[in-house]
Amino acid sequence: MSFTAADCERCRRDFPALARTLDGRPLAFFDGPAGTQVPNAVIDAVAGYYRTANANTHGHFPTTRETDRLLHESRETVAAFLGAADWRSVSFGQNMTTLNYSLSYALAREMRPGDEIVITQLEHEANRGPWLNLQEERGIVVREAAIGPDGRLDADDLARQIGKRTQLVAFNMASNSLGTVSDAALARRLSKEVGAWLLLDAVHYAAHFAIDAAALDADFLLCSAYKFYGPHVGILYTRPGLLERLRTDRLRTQDEEAPFRIEMGTLNHAALAGVKAAVDYIASWSTGGSQRERIVSAMQGIAAYEHELGTYYYERAQSIPGVAVHGPDFSGLRAPTVSITAGGVSPDDVARALGEEGLQVWSGHFYGLRPLEALGLAESGGVVRAGVVMYNTREEVDRLLEGVERVARGTAPH
Ligand SMILES: Cc1ncc(COP(=O)(O)O)c(C=O)c1O
Repeated sequence: MSFTAADCERCRRDFPALARTLDGRPLAFFDGPAGTQVPNAVIDAVAGYYRTANANTHGHFPTTRETDRLLHESRETVAAFLGAADWRSVSFGQNMTTLNYSLSYALAREMRPGDEIVITQLEHEANRGPWLNLQEERGIVVREAAIGPDGRLDADDLARQIGKRTQLVAFNMASNSLGTVSDAALARRLSKEVGAWLLLDAVHYAAHFAIDAAALDADFLLCSAYKFYGPHVGILYTRPGLLERLRTDRLRTQDEEAPFRIEMGTLNHAALAGVKAAVDYIASWSTGGSQRERIVSAMQGIAAYEHELGTYYYERAQSIPGVAVHGPDFSGLRAPTVSITAGGVSPDDVARALGEEGLQVWSGHFYGLRPLEALGLAESGGVVRAGVVMYNTREEVDRLLEGVERVARGTAPH
């Protein structure tokens, strides 16, 4: 299913925040990699839950039963989004970071000092902190596969880092700093050869590409709904049958079955209503077939649209004097998230100047610090990052390019 510029214009009407203006000009939201705007369907689902069904779970009266049903439906919907066999593979949490820490405590109980965990230089800190903790506190060794100057993972180095002692490969699928998409199939093959678990950080990837957890053959996969038009909720996929075998931190009153056994305390029920609505919203951009098929086909259409717009920005930005564009080019699979630096102007100053024109971009490292350190960009304040999502238009990108050009030239807006 294709997603055209006309579809983009149509979808924009669904996102009330896009109507915001600054000094008479619309705000242009290029901050999607840090969290997208949400459509009315999501806002209504969250508000609707509070209006009609707000309760805790597992009781014997109408609103609690409705809450149980809603949570179940959210899991089923997310299972369809991830290509999971069923809802039992879908655990929820506050965000990806807290779920990854919880998981790390459970995995640590299966490891011994000297065992190894392999990560890459493309990791967000959320997929470094939990493992570095285990290194410091439990004598687990964390090894790191390098990237090249173009921000692509060095496949040979990944193969070198994975060895007999590797218990876990914790692998970034798409970098939120550079847009690099890495080869998860290679990570699966190499990790399988040594009998290691594969954990995929799909937080940035899931915002742009359809996920097929079963085909990826992942043991664990994490993402966050606020990156794909939903509320702030973290999602953990676990291979069927695996979570039950792990010793998670769990209250004795908590359900010991998957997917519940890693969830702590009461979930954000209203937000989970919104997660379901966000996935349904994505699926609504395709027709026919099962919900899974609609999700995949809509994501493919949106990805092609985003890729074209991302390519446009990448190529035009590159030709602005004084501007350097970082990360891989758009000749292959890549997230539409583009980081630049503008001559001698600090990234924060660039973002501030653009922000005054209503052009919302992030500056710095956005917790995706490691790739920027590897490329020598961290010390000078990081980069200026613009992310394209389904509601961004060519006109917005043109405004952004004009803004970047002005800042790089050191001239004021007209
Ligand atoms: C690639 C990547 N991994 C992990 C995270 C952390 O996700 P959360 O904010 O849900 O903890 C982010 C957030 O920006 C991210 O972009």
